[in-house]
Amino acid sequence: MSARRPPEVELPPPFRVGAGRLELEGRPLEALADEYGTPIYVASERRIRENAARFQEAFRAHWPNYRLLYALKANPNPVIVGLLRSAGCGADCSSPAEIRIARDAGIPPTETLYTAAYPSAAELASALAARVTINLDDPALLPRLIELGRPERLSFRINPGRTASGPEGLRFAGHGAKFGVPLSAAIKGFQAARRAGLDRFGLHTMPGSNVLAPEHFGFVGRFLGQAYRRVEREAGIRLEFLDGGGGFGVPYRPGEKPLDLDRVARLFAEGLRQGLRARAGETLPEVNHEPGRYLVADSTVLLTRVTHIKRTSPWLVGVDAGMHTLLRPALYQAHHPVHPVRANGARRRWMNLVGPVCENTDVLAAHRWLPEPSVGEVYAVANAGAYGFSMSSQYNTRPRPGELLVTPRGAELIRTPETFDDLVAHVRRPAEGAGGRP
Ligand code: LLP
Repeated sequence: MSARRPPEVELPPPFRVGAGRLELEGRPLEALADEYGTPIYVASERRIRENAARFQEAFRAHWPNYRLLYALKANPNPVIVGLLRSAGCGADCSSPAEIRIARDAGIPPTETLYTAAYPSAAELASALAARVTINLDDPALLPRLIELGRPERLSFRINPGRTASGPEGLRFAGHGAKFGVPLSAAIKGFQAARRAGLDRFGLHTMPGSNVLAPEHFGFVGRFLGQAYRRVEREAGIRLEFLDGGGGFGVPYRPGEKPLDLDRVARLFAEGLRQGLRARAGETLPEVNHEPGRYLVADSTVLLTRVTHIKRTSPWLVGVDAGMHTLLRPALYQAHHPVHPVRANGARRRWMNLVGPVCENTDVLAAHRWLPEPSVGEVYAVANAGAYGFSMSSQYNTRPRPGELLVTPRGAELIRTPETFDDLVAHVRRPAEGAGGRP
């Protein structure tokens, strides 16, 4: 290993190295690449279940009235959503289609939150019809919502004025963020909602993403606790639930350490109790979180195969996945750990893994110190389970990849790779003469 750089973050169990080969549930990843083709997303059922169990155990130990919602935007595959349902999760949805996927996975509307940022009337109407809890990004949307119908439960997304983010610099709160409103505006919103006859309320905040600093979650707890009391004092409303959003990070970069979830949960609950200054015997609100990344990111690798090598400095190693498959590196300069699926014993070199898309930003992995590959070699790009497939595209007229789920019982495609027909499925030819055809 290079003395100049710490090694890549290792794959979590049940991924393991057996006889120099990366395996999942006893299956060599290379064999999966051969059988199903590349690029392909490969998810571990066991890892997803373990992530959900660890999360719920940690928070329930510190706050018994607790519900974990899964943010479907990280990976809305209905099979993954069903798996997380069976692991006890509700849903956080960002669109009508996600609400439908959650419902089809058996998640009841009482455990589904729809966070509407800049929604159209049609979107609001469809969330009302689904009877899910509606979380408005701006109380000024309330008159439009009420014109369309009465939500079962309503919450407002507040901006705590402070954010935290991983190296991607993703901003969800603080000055200049497009989300949420100050608490004072939400309080006016609650008053207006009550005048309109609504009576079941919650409060929501989402102050960061990919955060690895445990103290941040203490801040979120305290902020929500104080907000609860202000709503009680100024609007005379007892909120049913407090939602601390997502944002729980996972290690991507060399040297980063996983969150100590027990510590995170303890700091959050302590912060919340401080903010609430709970009275003896008082019934405390339900607490929700809605992580996406934490539950699914490290469950999945993207398998990609070397197509061509340019022996420049650094080497440019062409692979068959690119920004159309996994957008995060091109969009945020995000670092995803890269592991050859088989030890090849060659000397190491500095290299960039580049994709086939006609953009200079189509770099899947920059500045890696890896054994010299040859054409055909397969890499596992780690932490590909969150915002991987869900942000993929057909750019350069390339089909999106499939998704494979590996369980102790076997491997199964849970999304087949797209074909040429999918790329042109929605094309309609204009009537004769109108589109330039004679
Ligand atoms: N709740 C709301 C309202 C959100 O907007 C998000 C993420 C989550 C929950 C889940 O956040 P998480 O636990 O995954 O941080 N595309 C970016 C991440 C964008 C997150 C957008 N909102 C990425 O690839 O890192």
